[in-house]
Amino acid sequence: MASNKLLFSFLPFLVFFLHFGQGSSAVHFHPLKLFVFGDSYVDTGNIHVNASSARNFPYGITFPGVPSGRFSDGRVLTDFLAKYVGLKKSPIPFTVWQRFGRKGAKYGMNFGFGGTGVFDTSFPFPNMTTQINFFRNLIVNSIFSSYDIHSSIALVSPSGNDYSFYFTNNGSLEGFKPFIFSVVNQISVNLKRIYKLGVKKVVVLGLGPVGCYPKPTAPSFKKCNKTMDSIAVFHNTLLKQAVEKLNYETKEGSPNFFILNMYDTVLSIIKNKENRKGGATFKTPLKPCCFGVNSNFSCGSVDERGNKMYTLCKRPDLALFWDAVHPTQNGWFATFSSFKSTLKHII
Ligand SMILES: *[C@@H]1O[C@H](CO)[C@@H](O)[C@H](O)[C@H]1NC(C)=O
Ligand SMILES: *[C@@H]1O[C@H](CO)[C@@H](O)[C@H](O)[C@H]1NC(C)=O
Ligand SMILES: *[C@@H]1O[C@H](CO)[C@@H](O)[C@H](O)[C@H]1NC(C)=O
Ligand SMILES: *[C@@H]1O[C@H](CO)[C@@H](O)[C@H](O)[C@H]1NC(C)=O
Ligand SMILES: *[C@@H]1O[C@H](CO)[C@@H](O)[C@H](O)[C@H]1NC(C)=O
Repeated sequence: MASNKLLFSFLPFLVFFLHFGQGSSAVHFHPLKLFVFGDSYVDTGNIHVNASSARNFPYGITFPGVPSGRFSDGRVLTDFLAKYVGLKKSPIPFTVWQRFGRKGAKYGMNFGFGGTGVFDTSFPFPNMTTQINFFRNLIVNSIFSSYDIHSSIALVSPSGNDYSFYFTNNGSLEGFKPFIFSVVNQISVNLKRIYKLGVKKVVVLGLGPVGCYPKPTAPSFKKCNKTMDSIAVFHNTLLKQAVEKLNYETKEGSPNFFILNMYDTVLSIIKNKENRKGGATFKTPLKPCCFGVNSNFSCGSVDERGNKMYTLCKRPDLALFWDAVHPTQNGWFATFSSFKSTLKHII
């Protein structure tokens, strides 16, 4: 149930986009910690219950070798960003950090839960407001100092669960456009709150080309759904305006808020089949590696007798998408490679 909801939610891919005034004068910045908020594009193990597909085989087969709660065969966006900013490890998931004490919080913390949105989409998992409350409480309790916070980076991933939840729960078509406004407005409120807690660099993931994700293109995996892609374009236009407004309001000389342009990045990967790993290509970029054989598309699902109800490709490294809505590790690798041109101005 929850697993299907998580999987079904048409979540994000990645693309980054930067638009800030003075490229060359961008401040060089060395984050000591990474704080992460959002959904399955960034969750590295907060969802700890059976209800999560990411807790079942074949999730995690590439890395770490067993299911880890990541919604992929391996590493996800958080892992690539953590490495890029020089952290030895990904920041620890919020739900497990206390087992390791203060030491566990050394690299920051990951508050992202698969399936969640800025609004409630995935009971009982925390929406983004609640995730930020967790962060605030740790600051109040001096788990993180103001120095930690000031020198850190936040990664925020609101990648579409609000929209899939809206449609699944029979939101009206007339109400949809206003709903996009309210989602982006809530994202903006959240970004500002993270900044006000002291984080000076707040990076938000734009919405990917959701109409190209395996779920809407099944079973042929050939043509993107233009209607759905146009929703993402509209969302991203509003997000860009919201982020420009935030940067204008904070006026610190260099921008504090940045967008990763998931939409253009993933579309470009699809178009060019660019894999960037040893000259390999994503030959059939819309086709996922792991896909359910019945109508619920669940990678990893089994029937009552334990027979697997999904197909699994032999080479996840040659697939862009892992399951119905999530990239493979190599898909994230290719995506992140494009994001670097944006990130180098921030970090
Ligand atoms: C998880 O699933 C296993 C096998 O289906 C079951 O035995 C176990 O009780 C479940 N645990 C929880 C916390 O639901
Ligand atoms: C987030 O969840 C909390 C706790 O369930 C709830 O009180 C709050 O209204 C939610 N916020 C939003 C923006 O949906
Ligand atoms: C949506 O929900 C309303 C009220 O619950 C119901 O009357 C209507 O038939 C539903 N529409 C669809 C398309 O399911
Ligand atoms: C594209 O997606 C929309 C919204 O989910 C749906 O109504 C429409 O039928 C889809 N179009 C095609 C060609 O599948
Ligand atoms: C999805 O498919 C699996 C395998 O057939 C089944 O166990 C599960 O109940 C299905 N879930 C839904 C929501 O249909």
